[in-house]
Amino acid sequence: MARPAIVIALPPEERGAVADELRAAGFEAITIGTPSELEVLLADRNDIAVAILDGERDFDASIECYGLLHEGARSIPALMVMSPESLNALFSPTATDEFFSRPYSVDSLRWRVEAMCIRSVTVDDGSGPVIQGGSMEMVDWSRRATVIAVFNPKGGVGKTTVATNLASALQLHQNQKVLLVDADTVTGHVTTSLGLESVRTVADSWRDQAEGGDAETLTEIAAAHVSGLTIVALTSTPLNIDILEPGRVTDAITTSRPMYDFIVVDLHPSYSALNKAIFEKADRILVPVTPDVPALRAAVQLREVAIELGIQDRLSLVINRANSGVSVADMEKTVGMPALALIRSGGLLFVRAANEGRTVIEMYPKERVTEDFDAIAERLVRTFAPEAATVAMPVARSSGFRRPFGRAKVPARA
Ligand SMILES: Nc1ncnc2c1ncn2[C@@H]1O[C@H](COP(=O)(O)OP(=O)(O)OP(=O)(O)O)[C@@H](O)[C@H]1O
Ligand SMILES: [Mg+2]
Repeated sequence: MARPAIVIALPPEERGAVADELRAAGFEAITIGTPSELEVLLADRNDIAVAILDGERDFDASIECYGLLHEGARSIPALMVMSPESLNALFSPTATDEFFSRPYSVDSLRWRVEAMCIRSVTVDDGSGPVIQGGSMEMVDWSRRATVIAVFNPKGGVGKTTVATNLASALQLHQNQKVLLVDADTVTGHVTTSLGLESVRTVADSWRDQAEGGDAETLTEIAAAHVSGLTIVALTSTPLNIDILEPGRVTDAITTSRPMYDFIVVDLHPSYSALNKAIFEKADRILVPVTPDVPALRAAVQLREVAIELGIQDRLSLVINRANSGVSVADMEKTVGMPALALIRSGGLLFVRAANEGRTVIEMYPKERVTEDFDAIAERLVRTFAPEAATVAMPVARSSGFRRPFGRAKVPARA
């Protein structure tokens, strides 16, 4: 079957190389220079799967193109290429749009396009193939997100670090579409540590709704991070959060599942009703544990609580700051939980990345701690979305293949 058509509306100096790469991959690559060319094309063609737009040079033209892609019933996902500095709220992306940061390699751009095409749904109405972005009504097997909660009742063991960097590794290195939810209603700082200041929260939205505003999905409330992650926080303050009723929060997460491959939820260290409701909906609960007595004891206690709640099978240890002398077997035996992975200490890398509003995965792709996160991400994709793994990890097809961002494949931990 012919591969779908991809529109390339990048600056002239980038257009050719991207078109060549996509053509070599079997796509029909159509380059356009102006919005009116796009308009003419869209009037004629209904098989455009993805349009690659420039998000920073001629911004007015890009906004016009974006409008055309989403005009009327049309909903063609846009891949917006821009430098991190340019990512501000000028677009309000739909769930199927994605961002791609400059500088980039055409190879990594191609693989992002591949993943976007895979996530689209093909509908044949007899007039040839029509590719449409998946929506709530048009979901298929590929769009039911795996929910990963990150929890340990002990504070400071690395829950937020694991949630944020794992989400980033899934999004950037495994081509997964990820929603990162900051459900720490007391000391949540996911958005600020990623440079997203004063964002609208779920509590804000629901309060507005109570006063007659529109109901919004998590995606509509969420902010887009330059890494491509979609990020939403339940609240920016621990005060007046009665509105965050646990059942309503988990319903909102469930309703978002068709839009993502993974939903990663960072939790506050407590056994609150909200946390228990989220445990119940989670496919996997990652338990970061540092190799020290208080953290181990907290994990043992969690296991006992989990047995009572009937969710013990979903728990997996993530041994954090495991530099040396840590015996995984001993940790597993002590805590009574299987270990999914080890994460070594990243020293000051986490602090430096947070200062820039970025994840370590983005800023330090070659560091070994990034490889640790890649290994977890890869294992989760293999376990929960093996069909996506064939797209995200095409390494097996050619030993010369380089992963996004030019990184060599990181061998999964046994
Ligand atoms: N592998 C690591 N290497 C270096 N620093 C780390 C590592 N993991 C966590 N940290 C640092 O430890 C501190 C606590 O981590 P983090 O905030 O992720 O913990 P937490 O469990 O979410 O805490 P809380 O319970 O308060 O929400 C942070 O400063 C973080 O940068
Ligand atoms: Mg935290």
